[in-house]
Amino acid sequence: MTTPAPVLTVNGIEVIYNHVILVLKGVSLQLGEGQIAAILGGNGAGKTTTLRAISNLLKGERGEVTKGSIELRGERIENLTPADLVKRGVVQVMEGRHCFAHLTIEENLLTGAYTRKDKGEIAANLDKVYTYFPRLKTRRTSQAAYTSGGEQQMCAIGRALMANPSVVLLDEPSMGLAPQIVEEVFEIVKDLNQKEKVSFLIAEQNTNMALRYANYGYIMESGRIVMDGAADDLRNNEDVKEFYLGMGGGQRKSFRDVKSYKRRKRWLA
Ligand SMILES: Nc1ncnc2c1ncn2[C@@H]1O[C@H](COP(=O)(O)OP(=O)(O)OP(=O)(O)O)[C@@H](O)[C@H]1O
Ligand SMILES: [Mg+2]
Repeated sequence: MTTPAPVLTVNGIEVIYNHVILVLKGVSLQLGEGQIAAILGGNGAGKTTTLRAISNLLKGERGEVTKGSIELRGERIENLTPADLVKRGVVQVMEGRHCFAHLTIEENLLTGAYTRKDKGEIAANLDKVYTYFPRLKTRRTSQAAYTSGGEQQMCAIGRALMANPSVVLLDEPSMGLAPQIVEEVFEIVKDLNQKEKVSFLIAEQNTNMALRYANYGYIMESGRIVMDGAADDLRNNEDVKEFYLGMGGGQRKSFRDVKSYKRRKRWLA
């Protein structure tokens, strides 16, 4: 198997909030063309900050990338606006879904096409979204506020797809959803990845689910990647099992408490 060329490359980025709070301390990662990569880790690890750094959405949070570089298919993108990034095919689905509550599902989806003009293409894209998310078609005239959490998550992903992206940054799709709905959402992501060749970078606390669907995983703690590897290798790794998959019986600790993690990382490489 050949490794796909990277569509996204993050090279040693540092992110500082409010000019003083250093949150990302040299994060490097890659997303292969046509792949699904997962950024895993607990609350406050820096997953959302990493996605926002890529999509250039840190400014509104008083954050900035102070070191390192970000490339889209080999071209530097740190200075592009979020709208330019959308035009280049990079869209982010925010944590917490953020559908417009007073708009219908269909109106929400159409807001995702704001960078596009061709009405015929937009209509075709909407149809495509409905084939992947039949639930959204059923609920197309419902106000988003009255739809379920799962439908709102689907709406948020569907809206991102209305920009016709090649790369989707997906922040905690499982948040607050029942396990079978999470599975339904991930199955659709897998379908979109395989049939539409959309690459996904997914931030998740749900390590188990994310590693079932991703090709590659990065484990993050306190603003650093502490381990990375092929998803199957991570799933079978004893430390990952103990600390992130809840199979060790003990209390979840920090990876940094494990003296051997660097050695294991070398084995995985
Ligand atoms: N706007 C902000 N200003 C200052 N600090 C922030 C800001 N946003 C996030 N942080 C801090 O940055 C760190 C990383 O936060 P981030 O939201 O990236 O983590 P996360 O891995 O996405 O966590 P979660 O799983 O809870 O969503 C945390 O310590 C957080 O408190
Ligand atoms: Mg987050």
